[in-house]
Amino acid sequence: IGKKIVHFDTIGSTNDYAKEIGNKVRGGTLIISEQQTKGKGRLGRSWKSKSGDGIWMSLIIKPKIDPYKAPFLTLVAGASIVEALSNLGVDVLIKWPNDIILNNKKICGILTELSAEMERVNYIVIGIGINIKTLDFPNEIKEKATSLYKEGYKISRADIVRQFCIEFEKLYKGYILDDDKENTLDICRKHSAVIGKQVYIVKNNKKELVKCIDINENGNLIIKENNGDIKEIMSGEVSIRGI
Ligand code: BTN
Repeated sequence: IGKKIVHFDTIGSTNDYAKEIGNKVRGGTLIISEQQTKGKGRLGRSWKSKSGDGIWMSLIIKPKIDPYKAPFLTLVAGASIVEALSNLGVDVLIKWPNDIILNNKKICGILTELSAEMERVNYIVIGIGINIKTLDFPNEIKEKATSLYKEGYKISRADIVRQFCIEFEKLYKGYILDDDKENTLDICRKHSAVIGKQVYIVKNNKKELVKCIDINENGNLIIKENNGDIKEIMSGEVSIRGI
């Protein structure tokens, strides 16, 4: 993981570029750009990616797995970021499934994209954006977003990328080769920002207040609805908001 790195000063989106070259490069290739002009977030949102302000990167992997096993890799990536930052002295939480939280604010987002054909994975792109130096966020996200510098941590981007590759390689190999989900789930549960809490689940513009109970072995969130029903939700199209 990360043995080959392709670096850009500027690019539209590292995820889009990764998808362009996904079929032609080896698994483990990492695309990094100083700046993105069309950074993408989940659910069609845009992602601010100014020059030098953060780590904007996309990892291309080519595991021999069934496509339905791909979403779990978002948790593998999230757990790897938690471990990487923890190795560097920063304690963060995961807001299932794909946000990393520092001091109650979002510091990192993950956007996983899958290319599959005939029930087989061609490649998977794991896009990661970590806010490092940003001090001023646009008004819409000011209350919700932060950066390592803003929270008083001065850590080099190279160290974080290096630690991420080391931690991802461990958890990823465990999952792909030995079907080991426990190590990833352990980290996701221990560092969860939502388990045991009440949150709003937003789907198709509908908002429902639920309690988060656990993350199950498929990486899905187990919630308890107001009427007491227990449900399992997949990451797909939901977003979670604090209350
Ligand atoms: C989210 O929280 O909505 C996911 C944000 C993902 C942002 C990263 S930055 C690098 C990669 N390239 C993109 O266009 N998006 C991801």
